[in-house]
Amino acid sequence: MPAEYVPGLEGIVAAQTEISLVDGANGQLVYRGYVIADLAEDISFEEVAHLFWYGSLPSRAQLDGLAAQLSSVRTLTPPAMTALDALPTNSDPMDVLRSVLSMQGVLPHLQKPTIEHAIHATAALPTILAAFHRRRKGLDRVKPRPDLGHAANYLYMLNGEEAKPELVRALNTYLVLLADHGMNASTFTARVIASTDSDLISCLVGAIGALKGPAHGGAPSAVMDQLEQIGTAENAEPWMREARKRKERFMGFGHRVYRTYDPRAKILKAMCQRLNPKFYDLASKVEETALAILHEEHPERPQATNVEFYSAGVLQAIGLPKDFFPPTFAVSRVAGWSAHVLEQAGHNRLIRPQSEYVGPQPRKPVPLAERG
Ligand SMILES: CC(C)(COP(=O)(O)OP(=O)(O)OC[C@H]1O[C@@H](n2cnc3c(N)ncnc32)[C@H](O)[C@@H]1OP(=O)(O)O)[C@@H](O)C(=O)NCCC(=O)NCCS
Repeated sequence: MPAEYVPGLEGIVAAQTEISLVDGANGQLVYRGYVIADLAEDISFEEVAHLFWYGSLPSRAQLDGLAAQLSSVRTLTPPAMTALDALPTNSDPMDVLRSVLSMQGVLPHLQKPTIEHAIHATAALPTILAAFHRRRKGLDRVKPRPDLGHAANYLYMLNGEEAKPELVRALNTYLVLLADHGMNASTFTARVIASTDSDLISCLVGAIGALKGPAHGGAPSAVMDQLEQIGTAENAEPWMREARKRKERFMGFGHRVYRTYDPRAKILKAMCQRLNPKFYDLASKVEETALAILHEEHPERPQATNVEFYSAGVLQAIGLPKDFFPPTFAVSRVAGWSAHVLEQAGHNRLIRPQSEYVGPQPRKPVPLAERG
């Protein structure tokens, strides 16, 4: 019996994973048994990466070892530097990330994904982005600092000076919160590529492509555009009603799985209120209006604020340019993507679903001379 077609594969279980649980009904995200709210503000991104790749939170010695490994491979390879210099300075940073990571990972032959590859790729992403940011501003590249943690070093390479501890902490929390999220579109992409026994960089490059779209990681830049267009709290309701008449979606709202509040949004909202009060004042009014309109349209289909909405305010407060919001999501999610690739490769079966053919029934081709 052929299986039934489910648009968007909604509700289809495509993998078994030990890495993260998205509990949509209860609004919880769990990393290998740890609830995100218990991790978010007290743990480093490096500890989360260790949890994902090795299966446990690290001891002090293990954490120091991983941090040293990450900081030892932060430089770009010559092919990656050549690619970076060849790209136009007005390129979309997601395209830069996709292209330069591809060159960073050029290997003489196909290699099975390893934790070492995951460490290399995770270390490379901030360096690629910072180098591009400096280049498009006509500034010299800043060498990575081995004594700084992942979040601190990213900001240091971007700005050429150490960031305030409060901002490093905020970026670290953002990186922890976004590091994995069940079978989202980019993770699924990475796992599909992994299932063909391909290499880790190919999986990550595919995942970056999937993350780029506004239905996934491209949303926080769009949140910013939306807020800029709305401009004032008084304009929120008229603007948003007009937008719905044009069938536009509110950026930063709705989720395929969460039907209650996204737990990451809750934490980011509190951070945003503290770090970016100006953004928060307008955003909270827009949020209230968006939720009211969405409820009015479909009371039976709960839609909540998603992670992207207040991410925009937090990333802005950290000082990142708007077009760096999606690639900074990738700086975090690379930890989850690579863990999923390792998990898929560990007990692999080629991911090869079916399609339902709805095209014309068998027919004879008309010779070209008779087709008019
Ligand atoms: C995230 C998203 C792609 C999920 O889509 P989905 O799983 O198809 O959403 P649902 O099945 O819950 O709901 C679909 C319906 O709700 C409406 N809806 C969902 N999110 C909406 C939003 N943000 N604004 C307005 N309407 C929305 C859609 O118009 C659609 O109605 P329709 O079928 O009458 O057109 C979608 O909510 C969206 O586009 N959000 C905005 C972009 C965004 O914030 N992306 C980041 C995700 S973390």
